[in-house]
Amino acid sequence: MKHIGVLTSGGDAPGMNAAIRAVVRAGSHAGLTVFGIERGYQGLIDGALRELGPRDVGGIIRQGGTFLHSARCKAFYDAEGRAQAARQLAAHGIEGLVVIGGDGSYRGAQALHDEHGIRCIGLPGTIDNDIGGTDYTIGFDTAMNTAMEAIDRLRDTAFSHDRIFFLEVMGRHSGYIAMIAGIAGGSEDILTPEEPTNIDSVIRTIRDGRDRGKQSMIIVVAEGDDAGNAFDIAKAVAEQSEFKDTRVTVLGHLQRGGSPTAFDRVLASRMGIRAVEALAAGETGQMVGISGTRLVLRPLAEAWENRTVFDPELLKVAQILGS
Ligand code: F6P
Repeated sequence: MKHIGVLTSGGDAPGMNAAIRAVVRAGSHAGLTVFGIERGYQGLIDGALRELGPRDVGGIIRQGGTFLHSARCKAFYDAEGRAQAARQLAAHGIEGLVVIGGDGSYRGAQALHDEHGIRCIGLPGTIDNDIGGTDYTIGFDTAMNTAMEAIDRLRDTAFSHDRIFFLEVMGRHSGYIAMIAGIAGGSEDILTPEEPTNIDSVIRTIRDGRDRGKQSMIIVVAEGDDAGNAFDIAKAVAEQSEFKDTRVTVLGHLQRGGSPTAFDRVLASRMGIRAVEALAAGETGQMVGISGTRLVLRPLAEAWENRTVFDPELLKVAQILGS
């Protein structure tokens, strides 16, 4: 194998640039030519590829986003889109691909591997931390710290006005950011898609808090909560209780930006090197994960078949300390 490609796909995540940098420099170190592919699978189909050397990735370790751009590509769901992508790879002599993204991006990599024999290695890049086969995804630590800082800031104004806030954080299918940022920010309740939300119990939590002398409270809501978004939940609480005058803050895409934390930079750097080593060793259809402190290779399908679940201990911590 002489040529490899690297792309970022799906929602961007802080640390993706650090991963690209590591792939490019490890590839160069191993004597490989590395092509950067723009806008994920869409750029692959369109032939938006360019050779990258170590100097091309200088200074990007501290930048959020992805300098290769990212996209969610509909055309890649079709066999013809994937065939066109395989033709582009062949035209550039690329035999191995590093895909940085979430489980949807991995499904694309798996199809490219199964249908066209392209060697693919996945790196978990998403703020959601919802990928099986790894304890942490690239970008989660940064996003979680952004959400925690938001809780801290809200706490100041909530305290001053004796108010109840509902803070919505990202996570369409995953409550991981909500759970960890909520615990770190000392929130009074954490509502996630993984745990059924009961409005009566939210009201009880607020009432109990007031009875125990809490004047202000922050309830963290993951955007994909089963009871609705933060506005829906605040409205339901107002309709069904005496807590009519609450405030809602939606953090949204703020959580996807910003300079990556040291944890994300180092994780991405280690994983990027491991991905190149795996390709050079002939591995394919695998993702790089982290288990404890060690990097591991796992089948791509683990990403969606074995999705991350909360450790029950975390739920206990949230419940005891939020009271
Ligand atoms: O998968 C990462 C994520 O940020 C989710 O938490 C969120 O629901 C989704 O992407 C938002 O996607 P988009 O940027 O396409 O609106």
